[in-house]
Formats: sequence, C-alpha cells, structure tokens
Amino acid sequence: MNIVVSNVKGGVGKTTTSVYLAAAAVDRGWDPVTLIDADRQASSAEWLEDSPIEGVDLVEAPSERTVARALAGHGGLAVVDTPPGDERIVRAALDRADAVVVPTRAGGVEYSRVVATLEMIGGRTPYGVIICAARLGTNDLDEAIAWWTESKVPIWGIIPERVGIAAGPEARLYREGLDAYESVLKKALRKRPA
Ligand SMILES: Nc1ncnc2c1ncn2[C@@H]1O[C@H](COP(=O)(O)OP(=O)(O)OP(=O)(O)O)[C@@H](O)[C@H]1O
Ligand SMILES: [Mg+2]
Repeated sequence: MNIVVSNVKGGVGKTTTSVYLAAAAVDRGWDPVTLIDADRQASSAEWLEDSPIEGVDLVEAPSERTVARALAGHGGLAVVDTPPGDERIVRAALDRADAVVVPTRAGGVEYSRVVATLEMIGGRTPYGVIICAARLGTNDLDEAIAWWTESKVPIWGIIPERVGIAAGPEARLYREGLDAYESVLKKALRKRPA
C-alpha cells in the first residue's frame, strides 16, 4: 500500500502529514511501515533522526530512480513525503500511489496549486485533500470547505492549528494530531486496492 503526500506548493504541511500518517499506520498495526523521504531538504529524515518513531523505517529517496525502487520494495505500508518542486520526482511517486493525500491550507490562493497537483494524479488513483493548520470556526475555513465540496474534491481531514503539531522534530507526537491523522489514514485505506 503506497500513500503519497503531495502538493506542488511549499510549506503546506506535507512533511508533518507524512510523519503523522506513518505513526498512525504503526498504531493501526501496519508492519512494516516505511516513510520514504523524496525531498532533498530531508525534513522527514531529520525529524525521524531526531525523534525516531518505533515501527517506522526511514528511506531517503530524493530521485526518480530511488523513489521508484523504494516504493517497489517495502512490502507493507509506505508513506512518501514529496518535495514542493521537482516535478519528475513527484510524478515518479504519484505514478505508484494507491492513494494520494494533498495537504492544503484554508485561503483562496491555495486552490490553483492543489488543482495543479490533482492534475498530476492518475485518473484512477483515489485522492483527498486535508486542510492543515486549520483555524476552526473561521470564515476562511468555512469557505475552503465549501469550495472543495462544490469542486467535488473529497476532504479527507481537517487538522487544527496546534503548536503541539507544529513542534516537529524536538517534540513527541501530539495525541490530538495522531487522532486526526488516524482518521485521514482510514479514508486513504478505504480506497485500498483489493
Ligand atoms: N496542524 C498544524 N498546526 C500548526 N502548525 C502546523 C500544522 N501542520 C503543519 N504546521 C507547520 O507548518 C509549517 C509547514 O509544515 P511542513 O514542513 O509539514 O510543510 P511542507 O509542505 O512539508 O513544507 P515544504 O514544502 O517546505 O517541504 C511547519 O512550520 C509546520 O510545523
Ligand atoms: Mg516538507
């Protein structure tokens, strides 16, 4: 099972989402769970080096060739953290995805980048957006939800803005974040190939 986390826009929550989804997969009993870091910035790799997550194997694969090989050879559940640019690497991952999670933010400027990302996903691959660092109860969030709903793009999750989730490598994973991402994982897995 290959879950690819992708958005051509930077700084939306791809790395945070990838790390939390991998941890949520371990919690749900997947073994092995591989976090494939396809981003040269190696943010996921640094996060896991600083704070290893029991049950998550890390593979750095910042090229088309290495990401293809990593996705072919893990034998369990893999989550791929992709770079914001580097379209060829992103495509190499998307071509092998069983489900694609597209992190985004609330706010109008975000839509076009998500649409560009969705256009790179193969026609039969299930996908959903998740709204990261969401401010619950704001107009921005309500408008984003309405926009995606009207556009018939499934929303697989709304992850609240929390310093605990933002804390990254130095902190332990935050319970509320794990719960929110566990629900995203379930939605991605519902689309699992038979
Ligand atoms: N739920 C959240 N609440 C608060 N802050 C968050 C949340 N999710 C992500 N962030 C913060 O948003 C910033 C961007 O997140 P992240 O690094 O995961 O994005 P990215 O898409 O991987 O960025 P890049 O394109 O540079 O790889 C980080 O500072 C992260 O801590
Ligand atoms: Mg990142």
